[in-house]
Amino acid sequence: MLYPRNTTHRQLVDLSGLWSFRLDREGRGRDLGWTHGFEAGEPIVVPASWNDLVTGARDYFGEAWYQTRFVRPWGWHDKRIRIRFGSVNYHATVWLNGVLLGEHEGGHLPFEFDALALREDHNTLVVLVDGAIGPNRVPSADVRRDPLDNFMRPEQTPDTSHDFFPYCGIHRPVIVYATAHQALADLVVRTEVEGDRGLVDVRLHTDGAPEGARVTISGHGQTVWREAAIGADRAALTLELPEARLWSPEEPNLYDLRIELTSGGTVVDAYHQAIGVRTIAVDGDRLLLNGHPIHLRGFGRHEDFHLAGRGYQPLTLVKDHALMRWVGANSYRTSHYPYAEEALELADQLGVLVISETPCVEMYFHPDGLDERLRVWEMQTQALIERDRNHPCVIMWSLANEPHNRRPEAEGHFAHQFRLARALDPTRPVTFVSYLGEDDVALDLCDVIALNRYRGWYSEVGDIGAGIERLSTELDAIHARTRKPIFIGEFGVDTIPGMHAEPPVMFSEEYQVDFLDATIRLLDAKPYVVGAHIWNLCDFATAQSITRVAGRNYKGLFTRERQPKMAARRVRELWHAPRSEEEP
Ligand code: GCU
Repeated sequence: MLYPRNTTHRQLVDLSGLWSFRLDREGRGRDLGWTHGFEAGEPIVVPASWNDLVTGARDYFGEAWYQTRFVRPWGWHDKRIRIRFGSVNYHATVWLNGVLLGEHEGGHLPFEFDALALREDHNTLVVLVDGAIGPNRVPSADVRRDPLDNFMRPEQTPDTSHDFFPYCGIHRPVIVYATAHQALADLVVRTEVEGDRGLVDVRLHTDGAPEGARVTISGHGQTVWREAAIGADRAALTLELPEARLWSPEEPNLYDLRIELTSGGTVVDAYHQAIGVRTIAVDGDRLLLNGHPIHLRGFGRHEDFHLAGRGYQPLTLVKDHALMRWVGANSYRTSHYPYAEEALELADQLGVLVISETPCVEMYFHPDGLDERLRVWEMQTQALIERDRNHPCVIMWSLANEPHNRRPEAEGHFAHQFRLARALDPTRPVTFVSYLGEDDVALDLCDVIALNRYRGWYSEVGDIGAGIERLSTELDAIHARTRKPIFIGEFGVDTIPGMHAEPPVMFSEEYQVDFLDATIRLLDAKPYVVGAHIWNLCDFATAQSITRVAGRNYKGLFTRERQPKMAARRVRELWHAPRSEEEP
């Protein structure tokens, strides 16, 4: 799905800001006619979660109504007009001037509707958000704790199957945008490198049957272009960039890809996209970027912010990238769901490597509700890849995090997902992040073996040395059997800011220093380990339980307020970050 942009032939209006909001605990909004609009709402921010903003709504995961009004922009009378939501968690139903536009299920991925019944003036946009959590959703909640599914977490409120707070709301910008009726519908860009030449394969999918396309790539003193007739609703063409400047963390060279569609000799649509020429591949037990081995240093993260909950926050987006750069990280995983498109655009510009992950966290294969979970998971895998596949920063797909893969049937379900992902994008490695390791029935499907390991925390408790030994032995055994690259998706320890102990004890800052230091040194010494991500960049909100002080996961290297713990400097030294004048 194309990201909405202003161009010479496209215009957008961002409806972010203050909307009107009402909780609907009794589910009476439809009966009360709120689909046409409602009175007596309270202010809410879009994008943001309602849980930390609205009094009494922190643990409310039911239905709530949003409303805003807008005027059809001048000059849009003969355009195709759509309304696009970047993410609504969990289910959205959308009306415009009382006319149902449609519904969408699942957070973290965009959806859009044609703005039927749009008026010239006084348009009322109403969104019913259902934040309910349950066993038929992805991610799931209120799961059966069948021993075979091995849910290790203690009882928690809300009873999610995962370790982050299930924030609800309209979490990313709502955009109204106009195009001609003959327009670009989708774009797929794939790059190859032959010698010093960059080959850019461009596939266009169009609406309204425009006749021709002109594709131009410019940058670094070069401009190349090609034209093609559009057969039926698509066209494919390859452009060659002599002496291409490749995209990499060290030199995130981008080119400007411009597409013009024509009909009757007139340009009817124009779109542009920054692209990067690079290759990513698995070669034996190495991960190669542009043919050279890379080592991923970085973090698992969350979109989790004070007051905003999971709502898109450009402020924190910029700060988190500054922190990662300061500490010397070159990558992160979008744990445990697709992140905002704006984050990937920034990663393209800064040269940050991203493992893009579906919302399928702690998937389990108990028959109860399984068909629903599988349906949603497949829809999310396809939507994630179709959304993110043109970003050079995305180097790998993670289809799931910590699935409960003891049941034999899990292997078949994962094989289906791998086939889907590889069909949608044959250019990138595909994995999922396992906690079971050798007991995971689907592990061998992965191009890169990805493991979460907390030895010295959840096992070998309080004994970092024993944990390191056990981890080393385990990784050597998995590598010896699979001969594949191994990536550590998570390692870390809960660390209460300001808690100190000598000798170090668990939860103290000193323990985090020693744990991260020992683990990073071990993993750096294993050539088949292609990277390791600390869990987590920052402390984040979780459900309440006896293992989450004040509803927080404290494994952050930085606090939720983005202040460094003691270990941040040690990690910076280990990762050889360039000394910058600015402290975090
Ligand atoms: C798991 C899981 C994370 C969780 C972490 C923890 O590995 O993937 O989502 O936060 O453990 O327990 O801290």
